[in-house]
Amino acid sequence: MATRLVIEGGRRLGGEVRVSAAKNAALPALCAALLTSEPVVLENVPDLADVATTRALLEGLGAEISGESGSETRVQVARLASHEAPYELVSTMRASVLVLGPLLARAGVARVALPGGCAIGVRPIDQHLKGFQKLGADIAIKNGYVEARASRLKGARITTDLVTVTGTENLMMAAALAEGTTVLENAAREPEVSDLARLLTGMGARIEGAGTERIEIEGVTEIGGARHRIIPDRIEAGTLLVPGAITGGDVTIIGAAPRHLTATLAKLEECGAQITVDGDRVRCQGRERPQAADIITSPFPGFPTDMQAQFMALLGAADGLSKITETIFENRFMHAAELNRMGARIETEGSTAVVRGVPSYQGAQVMATDLRASASLVLAGLAANGTTEISRVYHLDRGYERLEWKLRALGANIDRAA
Ligand code: EPZ
Repeated sequence: MATRLVIEGGRRLGGEVRVSAAKNAALPALCAALLTSEPVVLENVPDLADVATTRALLEGLGAEISGESGSETRVQVARLASHEAPYELVSTMRASVLVLGPLLARAGVARVALPGGCAIGVRPIDQHLKGFQKLGADIAIKNGYVEARASRLKGARITTDLVTVTGTENLMMAAALAEGTTVLENAAREPEVSDLARLLTGMGARIEGAGTERIEIEGVTEIGGARHRIIPDRIEAGTLLVPGAITGGDVTIIGAAPRHLTATLAKLEECGAQITVDGDRVRCQGRERPQAADIITSPFPGFPTDMQAQFMALLGAADGLSKITETIFENRFMHAAELNRMGARIETEGSTAVVRGVPSYQGAQVMATDLRASASLVLAGLAANGTTEISRVYHLDRGYERLEWKLRALGANIDRAA
């Protein structure tokens, strides 16, 4: 099995590529089907490893799923066959915790393995659990599993201590079938949250304020099926634009949602790229050499933490000194050491990285440690002199649909190897 990517760098990249549907919108949308016995049809589910894991998780709970990944997918949970999300699946994908809210709301009982830590941080789910307790659920942690019970959830006012994306999504799905009204304060405003609210509303839920920090959900006794088109992937979109800036090329992405990309596009311009937006098309024309810029990650609409690694690769080749401050995850600089193996000059301390740009990267053997770190190594490899070999690319397949095909369409010399 091909486990490595091999890139011959140093080419100016250019051309057009289409953006796929968003991983972080597809996963909660699939889980939302647990809330009803009616079919939910998702028109454009991306072909990703995390989608395959979610399908397996839902099938274990009794879902019937038809349609290939990467196309229209029909999910129906006419009857729940189980209310357990096993450790084997949850340990491979933390987003599995998104079945907890729907199971609790529909079945009144859920047993979900507690996700452990991951490469980028400890990532507890205490805010999810506190929220479910506010909705009247009994929550216990037993043998590594969350055991949740509630005869019927009751609406409540929930203010999370911090902004959590899947926390907001989990509580929104649970509140959709609760008795009475729930108000989520300090809610996440990410476009993926709004997209889930759009699907739930299509299923018959009553939700106001998604996309703002205050979401109001008036519970109903039952919701039905729906047909839904998932939003484009703003992180994949940003990742596909960086080759234009890092190789001095000219890349256009198609099928994007530019309003979801404002912070990323503004930062590309700060790095000297020329950005042109025309409907669902975004063009990025790079300069001879990127310019330095400072970055502070924050929840939407701020600069996305999921673009931090890709921009570290860009700034590593920039003219000047940049400072990156990661405020969301406590351990999201694993890619820095690998980029330094390619000749970068990056020092990290706590949540800050200081990047002294170098004229060019050198090809080297490097290792991917997580999804976005692997993307940053690919981007550096595209700009590097010589050959870059990236191992553990399974990380990439979790969140990028056929990335090397798309980069080849831009003129990259990139291939998989055993
Ligand atoms: C979502 O993760 C995304 N995943 C992540 O994308 C993304 O990085 C993250 O939001 C932030 O934008 C999906 O949507 C499937 P959080 P999530 O809860 O919801 C802390 C990618 O690369 N926290 O918003 O798990 C947490 O530890 C992935 O596609 C608690 O302390 O992130 C983190 O420091 C990686 N307690 C911060 O809050 C909680 O109960 C934000 O996490 C929940 C979160």
